[in-house]
Amino acid sequence: MAAIELRGLTKVYPGGVKALDALDLAIPDGEFFALLGPSGCGKTTLLRTIAGLETASGGAVVIGGRDVTGVQPGGRDVAMVFQDYALFPHMDVTDNIAYPLRIKKVAKGARRDKAAEVGARLGLDHLMDRRPGQLSGGQQQRVALARVMATQAQAYLFDEPLSNLDARLRLEARTFLKKLQRELGVTTVFVTHDQAEALAMADRMAVMEAGHIRQIGTPAEVFQRPANTFVAGFIGSTPMNLLDGTVRGDTLEVAGCKIAVPASAGGPLSDGEKIVYGVRPEYLTYSAGPAEGAFGGQVAIVENLGASHLATLDVNDVSVQVVVPEGSEPAVGDDGYAVPRRDRALVYRNGELV
Ligand SMILES: Nc1ncnc2c1ncn2[C@@H]1O[C@H](COP(=O)(O)OP(=O)(O)O)[C@@H](O)[C@H]1O
Ligand SMILES: [Mg+2]
Repeated sequence: MAAIELRGLTKVYPGGVKALDALDLAIPDGEFFALLGPSGCGKTTLLRTIAGLETASGGAVVIGGRDVTGVQPGGRDVAMVFQDYALFPHMDVTDNIAYPLRIKKVAKGARRDKAAEVGARLGLDHLMDRRPGQLSGGQQQRVALARVMATQAQAYLFDEPLSNLDARLRLEARTFLKKLQRELGVTTVFVTHDQAEALAMADRMAVMEAGHIRQIGTPAEVFQRPANTFVAGFIGSTPMNLLDGTVRGDTLEVAGCKIAVPASAGGPLSDGEKIVYGVRPEYLTYSAGPAEGAFGGQVAIVENLGASHLATLDVNDVSVQVVVPEGSEPAVGDDGYAVPRRDRALVYRNGELV
């Protein structure tokens, strides 16, 4: 088990795509670290460069205090699970799980014992003689996990390992994987484009955009205080309201309404300054009657979220979304008001949190 440190890591592919741009990152020993970002932002490249499957164009990869930048993948002592599992179709489950041990020249008996032990732990004990083609997607995914765990590497690297599973299985697998990582205590880098998955699983997480890390923090920090409007728009199952506004003395004018300055707005705001006001739909309270400091408008859309509803208000031609608890949802066309929580609203200047 080992800490992972990236120092000024840069990757330029032949042809000139800069997939990683002078990236700095320190992941302590034993941490479950999630790497989140949209497709094409460089997540797979980052993981493959840590594993040594891609060579860095600049900077350093340090694992367990050892600079491994020039070291071959086999000498780095990390194990990687790929999105497509990459199981060998002609081998049974035992041989698939034991494959990395065979590469390490572990004796056959010891290999099979280890595969059986890890397989049992993942509930695969009755499937050990089957081939991948005879397994469901979820079972194949567990074989891929078992293969990684059998290697006892210093770090595990997961590249969207749950994305081929259906929604229900995916939730189960995520709980299971998190529990397993906690038990084993192996440093884990988990790549996903699914913000809910990152929030649910990570001890800490990074949000990437176009080869850069835009924020690093705990899921709570990233959810409650996104450092910039990119992260603010990317995190959350209902997107944050990001509304143009103007500073008017000691209040804000947003969507034609007089709104209180958020409690957290740290830096001084100057009168007349243009800002972006951010508040999550969950941090607005819906009211059918006028309320002080509220966004007031007409209900344009009501969407069912299950235990709550998402109402979109038309506020002077600006859309403001608010989560309304079950039972008190408005009807389309109603006059409606949404009061922001001052302790959860945010102000952005030039895209960065004030
Ligand atoms: N082998 C490659 N050769 C050239 N460009 C690549 C290669 N692999 C990835 N890229 C490019 O690098 C960028 C990052 O890709 P990738 O790391 O796969 O992103 P992600 O995993 O976040 O979707 C993209 O612009 C992609 O097109
Ligand atoms: Mg990828």
